[in-house]
Amino acid sequence: MATVTAVLYVNAIPIFADIDPETYTIDPKSVESVISERTKAILPVHISGRPADMDALLSIAEKHDLYVLEDACQAWGSEWRERRVGAIGNIGAFSFQSSKNITSGEGGMIVTNDENLYEKAWSLHNCGRSLKGPWYEHQLPGGNHRMTEFQAAILLAQLERLDEQTERRMSNARYLNDSLSRMDGIKPLKDDERITRNSYHLYIFRFNPEAFGGISKARFAEALQAEGIPVSVGYSKPLYAERYLDYFKRCPLSCPFYGKPIDYSKVKLPVAERACYIEGLWLPQYVLLGSREDMDDIISAFEKVSENADELKE
Ligand SMILES: Cc1ncc(COP(=O)(O)O)c(C=O)c1O
Repeated sequence: MATVTAVLYVNAIPIFADIDPETYTIDPKSVESVISERTKAILPVHISGRPADMDALLSIAEKHDLYVLEDACQAWGSEWRERRVGAIGNIGAFSFQSSKNITSGEGGMIVTNDENLYEKAWSLHNCGRSLKGPWYEHQLPGGNHRMTEFQAAILLAQLERLDEQTERRMSNARYLNDSLSRMDGIKPLKDDERITRNSYHLYIFRFNPEAFGGISKARFAEALQAEGIPVSVGYSKPLYAERYLDYFKRCPLSCPFYGKPIDYSKVKLPVAERACYIEGLWLPQYVLLGSREDMDDIISAFEKVSENADELKE
């Protein structure tokens, strides 16, 4: 929800696009279908660490003169065609929150190759001060979002192990993909050779209830958890269905400057809904740091649940 709230906090209006059913990243065709003359930016989320289709998104952005803001919070070290995500578009955000592949408990980082955006971001995070001006003059309505040197020390030390851990996660993910894709009713996300590195903050897979006697994904997760596998049902509803959006009903959602009121209750994105309500589950990144034997345990648990699905019927 942070991705959406950040947009609303600056009085801009998030317009939702659907995701691709094979990759769960934003679908460029859906993006094009919702662009209007008021659109300013495209905000792809590199969900689970998997880069969105940056070729297609950059070309749409160029065609419509839009910024591309990358939510790379889950994508430490991920690469699209051998370029690290975050500054492939105009600007990108990373999170250091406690679940992330690199963490200082809380906090985050913005990256950009654009000098102008860099100076603005620097100012906003540093009480609105000016990078090149006098110390106590304030050019932007910034806050104190500076992180501490203690956090920096903890984060820098983690950079030393990031490459090795990313390789390990990728290798274990390939191993799981290989076995799980052969299992009836389980489908890992599709491979894409343009993704040259994937942080695998989450290992997402798709579950087909029909192959498991019609049980829900929650029931399936419960059965795997009983086998000691920390699988999660993930996001249980699409963001546009979240109740907290009501808090923005007056401003900006009904502000005259957009030209029409926004009503998220009318939004229906079928692929995102299917992912949330029916088929999307994930394993957290730390699971992929385990050994080959740990991966074999996970595969055995999937097989056991699959073989005994009849007993799980609600
Ligand atoms: C995709 C995504 N965007 C944004 C955030 C927000 O990051 P933070 O918690 O550091 O504000 C997170 C995680 O927390 C995230 O996973």
